Amino acid sequence: MDFRGSHILSIDQFDRSDIEKLFSVADKLEPYASKEKITRVLEGAILGNMFFEPSTRTRISFGASFNLLGGNVREITEVGSSSLAKGESLADTAQVLSGYSDIIVMRHPENDSVQRFAEASRVPVINAGDGSNEHPSQALLDLYTIQKELSQNGKSIDGLRIALVGDLKYGRAVHSLCKILSLHDNVTMNLISPKELRIPSEIAELLASRGLNIKETENLEDGISEVDIIYVTRVQEERFKDKNDANKYRGLLSLNQSIYTANCEPNTVIMHPLPRDSRSDANELDSDLYENPNLAIFRQADNGVVIRMAIFALVLDIEEKIEETSRPVNWKVGLKD
Ligand code: CP
Repeated sequence: MDFRGSHILSIDQFDRSDIEKLFSVADKLEPYASKEKITRVLEGAILGNMFFEPSTRTRISFGASFNLLGGNVREITEVGSSSLAKGESLADTAQVLSGYSDIIVMRHPENDSVQRFAEASRVPVINAGDGSNEHPSQALLDLYTIQKELSQNGKSIDGLRIALVGDLKYGRAVHSLCKILSLHDNVTMNLISPKELRIPSEIAELLASRGLNIKETENLEDGISEVDIIYVTRVQEERFKDKNDANKYRGLLSLNQSIYTANCEPNTVIMHPLPRDSRSDANELDSDLYENPNLAIFRQADNGVVIRMAIFALVLDIEEKIEETSRPVNWKVGLKD
């Protein structure tokens, strides 16, 4: 793919060389993400950070990434604070906002809404989650995390054994992750969910057509016993027409330390796109896992910054200019002793 000036709407746009390119730029940007160095390469540029659905990680990390490259961020954080609430169309909104922004990140509750928005935009648009469809930047940071975690145990993504747990029907992070993993060789995927929340058939067919070794089960202990990664997700209650239906599935697939110890191989890595539902009737990742060094959920969230910086660097074609305005930071980072 030619990243320059492209919309990033789906993992379908990527092949393995695109992913390798993005990860190599992310590695280069690590000193800027960790604030050892500063760059002002995007000075004067404006990100339109348009979130028409709740978000903590994706909105703040996209905004922080743009700031770390020297750009400014303007935001909408809910439909009710925009003129969509007055009946304005997505196409008109895109026409207007792309006049104020150099690039737009957008999240919206409807499947394919970001694509429709992008078709009317005059600047590149990044999909930050459209309904239950896709969350491509999440899949990229998830894969980057998987690669980093596996490399510590001398493993690579080719040959990966992964368990995907929870709401596989509505979880857009899972859908994008399945697509990106399907580009790799010899991947074994255990899909663990209640039968009503199984992976959509079009994704199951894609995985089968690309030769992944798939097992579907409703049993957590059975599915997590011989894997390198357990990727847990929450029940996406906002996608259910009737919230009472979502309640039926909350708490059915909860992982805690004793289940982990009894069933998992040593060094099995635990991931979650977050937010995890920590209410007592859900609690899909118990707090007793906090001391488990293989719990990678916060390392995973941290990787969102460098991956989103890399997306901006490639789409805005400033990768080669980052060093031109580079200098060391001159403040102390972190808490006092
Ligand atoms: N993982 C993720 O998309 O989190 P937020 O909903 O907080 O952005």
